[in-house]
Amino acid sequence: MIYSRIAATGAYLPERVLTNAELEKLVDTTDEWIRTRTGIERRHIAAAGETTVDLAERAARRALDAAGVAPGEVDFIAFGTTTPDLIFPNCGVLLQERLGCYGVPAFSLETACSGFMYALSIADKYVRCGDAKRALVVGAETLSRITDWKDRATAVLFADGAGAVVLEPAAAPGVLSTHLHADGRHQELLYCGSGVSKGLSLSPAITMAGKEVFKIAVSKLGSVVDETLSANGLERGALDWLVPHQANIRIIQATATKLAMPMERVIVTVQDHGNTSAASVPLALDVGVRDGRIKRGDLLLLEAFGGGFTWGSALVRY
Ligand code: ACO
Repeated sequence: MIYSRIAATGAYLPERVLTNAELEKLVDTTDEWIRTRTGIERRHIAAAGETTVDLAERAARRALDAAGVAPGEVDFIAFGTTTPDLIFPNCGVLLQERLGCYGVPAFSLETACSGFMYALSIADKYVRCGDAKRALVVGAETLSRITDWKDRATAVLFADGAGAVVLEPAAAPGVLSTHLHADGRHQELLYCGSGVSKGLSLSPAITMAGKEVFKIAVSKLGSVVDETLSANGLERGALDWLVPHQANIRIIQATATKLAMPMERVIVTVQDHGNTSAASVPLALDVGVRDGRIKRGDLLLLEAFGGGFTWGSALVRY
């Protein structure tokens, strides 16, 4: 039996840091409101001309370097993003060209904040069936490009960044299970209303009914963590680390409570990164791995919830 395991992680954040104090000058908000309602203190914003694939390439190279895999040896690229460089070629292919692993399958998928969870689930299956041996899984975003900087309800939340993992075959898991879901009935609560077929806007912007999204996010994340524990015969409290989507500290705390996990066992980066959508989980994972909290053999639960709605989780033995 072949399993997949995470060989290494990598991440990249743009240099420019935008603080809550600076946002106070852009919209009618306060540092205190942003901190208490969201947990966010600062976020990174891509430079003019810096694209999603630029961020992804740096994160991918860091992950490959840590895994000891040459870029040209990658044999599968799954790339989650809602903010692609172009309509086509897709970001997976653009990244492939940068890395020089020509000819291997490369694609991107747009499931908003769950983009990395979907990409990880697909890549895991390709590794497990023997069709991929050095798979690159990426989540990267330049959400600042679809943020309305005059809308205080969303401008304080979203940010840019990239994270990546290298998956390789292993005799023991690795990725123990992944769980993906979608429910299109609440599209109007969270969307970006610009698209090729419906008509492109020159200034596309995220629209969100925050309070409603919050309630559904807490409920769906609660059920997917239950589903993950139950699929693996685990009790609450059995995990070493929760690596959650970083949208709002209050959503993270609710999921930690559901799992009976103290906040000391949760990787929290929302204060420094804001909501980077598909990049958020691999960015948080990389922080936990590189600062030494997450160790080989630890049991991790990764989860995300986002526009669509889409949501998902993965149970991983690191
Ligand atoms: N600064 C100051 N006041 C604000 C701001 C702001 N930036 N934004 C809203 N307010 C005001 C509102 O106008 C409202 O005022 P009122 O009471 O006079 O009407 C008050 O603050 C409360 O607003 P709420 O929207 O009720 O605030 P809430 O506590 O729900 O927090 C938030 C809002 C942070 C958006 C929260 O609802 C949330 O995090 N929602 C979920 C976000 C999420 O998980 N998104 C999913 C993924 S995103 C993706 O897929 C791309």
